[in-house]
Amino acid sequence: MCGGVQRKNQFWENDRVFESIAIVGATGAVGRIIRQMLEEHDFPYQKITFLASSRSAGSKIAFAGQQHTVQQLCPEAFDSIDLAIGSTPDEVAAEFAPWAVERDCIVVDESGYWRMDPKVPLVVPEINPEAVDHHQGIISSPNCSTTQMVLAMKPLHDAGTIRRVVVSTYQATSGAGVVGEKDLQEGSRAALDGQEYSCQAFAHPIAFNLIPQIGSPKHAGYTSEEMKMVHETQKIFADKSMRICPTCVRVPVVNCHSESMLVETEKKISADTARKLFAATPGIKVVDDLEAGKYPMPSDCSGDDAVFIGRIREDLSSENGLAFWCVSDNLRKGAATNAVQIAQLLVRKG
Ligand SMILES: NC(=O)c1ccc[n+]([C@@H]2O[C@H](COP(=O)([O-])OP(=O)(O)OC[C@H]3O[C@@H](n4cnc5c(N)ncnc54)[C@H](OP(=O)(O)O)[C@@H]3O)[C@@H](O)[C@H]2O)c1
Repeated sequence: MCGGVQRKNQFWENDRVFESIAIVGATGAVGRIIRQMLEEHDFPYQKITFLASSRSAGSKIAFAGQQHTVQQLCPEAFDSIDLAIGSTPDEVAAEFAPWAVERDCIVVDESGYWRMDPKVPLVVPEINPEAVDHHQGIISSPNCSTTQMVLAMKPLHDAGTIRRVVVSTYQATSGAGVVGEKDLQEGSRAALDGQEYSCQAFAHPIAFNLIPQIGSPKHAGYTSEEMKMVHETQKIFADKSMRICPTCVRVPVVNCHSESMLVETEKKISADTARKLFAATPGIKVVDDLEAGKYPMPSDCSGDDAVFIGRIREDLSSENGLAFWCVSDNLRKGAATNAVQIAQLLVRKG
């Protein structure tokens, strides 16, 4: 059996305490932030195990003031684990989640593999926390570009019923994991030095460039990343009639995805009302003063759990349209924060 580390926690009397938890993909870009979040929050568990591939098995991770050894992912790793938070490639999640569920371990999964499975709840705790009640062992967290978009949509949908969304994303390289971060940093250095650099995560150079393709061609000229935004949004809001037109673009920004959104509602919502609705929504922060040059930017939002909204204005081209700019840390609310919030829901629900 893979080993673990003992830890004592303070917790509230009625909360469930997971005896033993695991972070699967602990060495990745998202796994790194999940570790930080578990250190920041007093999450109730007694033992923690870090799992990854054979490439990093045996390497050391600093956590809660101690050095821990990364274990290789294998079915037996879940023998005594109650909760696994997974952030691995899709094909790895496809394999490991059943190993865990067979051993009575609940999986909160970041990958895209399980999200659209009808038996698997797809959860953003601020929107559909009740979906967790129906899990059969696996709970999915949405794609990073979906999560910030749906959180921004939530107060407008509640107030005026959203009919249509046109969204263009400006997605950071950390969205493609540690290799994506490396491609931007080393590609930029090489470009400035006049050297060649061959990207590993991207099909084209990302330094000083934009790539208007994220994922593979999927449906009617849309990519897999774009279709995730459509299908996941409809699942989270349980409304297949919601119309969404996404364009996903990779940009040379290390961290934080930005989205330009145009939202059409059945009932008109003024820019002032929208500003108040956003400001009153847990998880959203408004930064919106064009005269003063204040709006959300990736460099200001990195490391924060919130979804930031600014440039709020009424659409000049449609009756009930509202345009705004939305930025969020894709590794935090777009991934680790949302997964840890789902795990916290499980704790609170006992
Ligand atoms: N990055 C984001 O903004 C973001 C946001 C939302 C969701 N996600 C999803 O989260 C998942 C992880 O993304 P990431 O950005 O963290 O990727 P990453 O930086 O490439 O990390 C991948 C992790 O999975 C592990 N892994 C890979 N192959 C494995 C195998 N065969 N067996 C066991 N572990 C294996 C890696 O371990 P090694 O170090 O040993 O290779 C690493 O810990 C992906 O499904 C991604 O779509 C990412």
